[in-house]
Amino acid sequence: MAQIADQILVLQNGRVMENNPTATILNNAEHVYTRQLLSAVQDSDGYKDNAPGEVVIDINNIEAGYGRMTKQGKPEIPILSDISMRVRRGQTVGIIGESGSGKSTFARVIAGLLPAANGSMLLNNKELTPAIVDRSKAECQQIQMVFQNADTALNPAHKVGDILGRPLTFFHGLKGAARKQRVAELLELVKLPTDLADRKCGALSGGQKQRINLARALAAEPSVILCDEVTSALDTVVAAAILELLGELQAKLNIAIVFISHDISTVKSLCDEIMVLYKGKTVQYTSGKQFASGPYEPYTELLLNSVPTLDPTWLDSRQSRA
Ligand SMILES: Nc1ncnc2c1ncn2[C@@H]1O[C@H](COP(=O)(O)OP(=O)(O)O)[C@@H](O)[C@H]1O
Ligand SMILES: [Mg+2]
Repeated sequence: MAQIADQILVLQNGRVMENNPTATILNNAEHVYTRQLLSAVQDSDGYKDNAPGEVVIDINNIEAGYGRMTKQGKPEIPILSDISMRVRRGQTVGIIGESGSGKSTFARVIAGLLPAANGSMLLNNKELTPAIVDRSKAECQQIQMVFQNADTALNPAHKVGDILGRPLTFFHGLKGAARKQRVAELLELVKLPTDLADRKCGALSGGQKQRINLARALAAEPSVILCDEVTSALDTVVAAAILELLGELQAKLNIAIVFISHDISTVKSLCDEIMVLYKGKTVQYTSGKQFASGPYEPYTELLLNSVPTLDPTWLDSRQSRA
């Protein structure tokens, strides 16, 4: 908006909170809600720097792609080449890269939805079975995934209590009152009211749905959670709250998180280590601390410079440079 608009109308709950020239909105916002919106997009300079635990997932030299295998043992449409990543307990490793760089493909490989053509994966020091259909119940329980689109990941006709209850029964054999009790605990964990258990998913907001998706992943009590663009479909304020929740949950539960996003500021604020993907290859892999200060590989620099800032002259200055 800062790049496009001369004047900005701020809406909340169907009412106009503020209607002002762009410069006023950015520098001198009148309404507290406008200031909330602004602070949710402001780039945080903080980075996490955790004391690392033991290695949970150790991925080495993955090659993967789509289509049939060629005689040389390569996929017909190669996407990922030589990707390695290691995530420790309590650690978040971020993966960034533009759309099409192979982030979701990599998540699918870890989740077992797309077995790799080459390379190895260790889960808690044991070889991880490539395809999800061949994985043991314990392997499935250890790796959980949260997807971008909260809407399609949840059946709108199902009750929240059933959605959270299913993994509790499947992985942990919980039934009846014990299961109900645990559903309530999970709802509290993701800061939702416990009476939501009786509500159908279709009647929830986007942010609530994404909290349910997180709670469902946590129900399994995994050691790794894969988060693929989990905030991309949410507005900035709701997205910031989800990120904060993720950070809190990780500190509390000491899980390993693989956090995928095309949004650099999100990755910077949450991740201990950051991998930059470009055309299926790792172009940079550094600690969050190092990432905050540089130096950057040329592609990383380009990514950083492609983020519109809250500066109305940003787009013009980009265009005059081009
Ligand atoms: N099922 C598929 N068959 C063939 N190519 C695919 C398939 N899914 C994704 N791709 C291709 O793989 C590349 C990486 O896609 P993806 O992993 O979704 O990237 P990202 O998540 O970074 O946006 C893209 O070029 C995309 O077109
Ligand atoms: Mg993707």
